[in-house]
Amino acid sequence: MGRVSISNHPLILHKLTLLRDVDTSPKKFRQLVREIAILLAYEATMDLQVEPKTVQTPLAMTSGHELAEKIGLVPVLRAGLGMVEGIWEMMPNAEVWHIGLYRDERTLRPVAYYNRLPVDPTVQVCLVLDPMLATGGSAVEVVNILKSWGAQQIKFVGIIAAPEGVRHLSETHPDVPIYLAAVDDHLTPSPQQEGDPPAGFIVPGLGDAGDRQFGTG
Ligand code: PRP
Repeated sequence: MGRVSISNHPLILHKLTLLRDVDTSPKKFRQLVREIAILLAYEATMDLQVEPKTVQTPLAMTSGHELAEKIGLVPVLRAGLGMVEGIWEMMPNAEVWHIGLYRDERTLRPVAYYNRLPVDPTVQVCLVLDPMLATGGSAVEVVNILKSWGAQQIKFVGIIAAPEGVRHLSETHPDVPIYLAAVDDHLTPSPQQEGDPPAGFIVPGLGDAGDRQFGTG
């Protein structure tokens, strides 16, 4: 199993509860995704490498640091989009590489539909951004794509996961640390009767993070 970090930061706990609330509007939901993503990225970037750098203050020369590695933010379309902007403000020199996947409703398998990664890797550290880790199929596929690209260091930053997804990702890619706000109870099973929710939704979860951000639910 790879390293799994579940934040117990009070701000994240507070914001996560608002995020789950069915009465939270899309505007508020987007704001919360952005804020939680920043807080989780803070935790996920604790071990970034820095290099010494001298700087002239108005009074004297002094020693400081600068980031030594180029960072790539990799939002998984669509739901990961809302996690980009806030994190990007914290690290404006990061590159953003979008990967489009959707989950087939019947098989729950990821279907790739967008990838414009250049031939050779241009970043040293990739932060995969997707608020939901359900079966883990999408996250595993994104990491497969990034590893085939040649990415050296990959971290997954999500918000809510199911135990099944954490297991799938961490067993398939034990070198990829996972940063989350919560691991929930279970995934919904295949519907048995009219009115049952579709399969593969995180319970209690927050519903469909893509639909709730973009008002398409
Ligand atoms: C959701 C979510 C993840 C994926 C998680 O995306 O944002 O990408 O499902 O499921 P998994 O762990 O079982 O693969 P969805 O397919 O709903 O697409 P969307 O973001 O475009 O709504």
